[in-house]
Amino acid sequence: MANNAMIWKGSVNGVEREMHIPPAMRLSELLRDHLGLNGLKVSCEIGRCGSCMILLDGAAVNSCLLMAYQCVGGEIITIEGLSDMDKEEALHPVQQAFLEEGAFQCGYCTPGMLISSVSLLNENPNPSREEIIDALSGNLCRCTGYGPILRAVEKAAQSQSN
Ligand code: FES
Ligand code: FES
Repeated sequence: MANNAMIWKGSVNGVEREMHIPPAMRLSELLRDHLGLNGLKVSCEIGRCGSCMILLDGAAVNSCLLMAYQCVGGEIITIEGLSDMDKEEALHPVQQAFLEEGAFQCGYCTPGMLISSVSLLNENPNPSREEIIDALSGNLCRCTGYGPILRAVEKAAQSQSN
């Protein structure tokens, strides 16, 4: 263990984790490089694209902007943990809606889009189109497939209300 290592503790996808990490490690590095959770992508590294989004205590946040030490004791859900949030279904309802609407092309933005959508629907189960656009404004899709993404979020909202 390096002399300047710190102990990081937190819940990741429902599992309590404890590990030694360098104090200057970003949360995105901890998740990808130490835990192998490569679903989140690191692209811009300045909080502009949303590809690195995760849920931290229920809120969608850019993991590239957070230092790991800021999240000690937090409850983290990554894209790999989404389906476990709904034990009865193989996919989370939002994932199912993205699949049914074909709301992805290359898929690079999809994990971040899903995380933002889940966060939105947890807070606002019946959002308007404008509220969905606003909630996804921090997520960029380089393939510009926004139409199916918006329809998928609307479909997920409907399916969750039934
Ligand atoms: S990589 Fe984090 S917002 Fe772009
Ligand atoms: S599907 Fe390719 S970046 Fe969004």
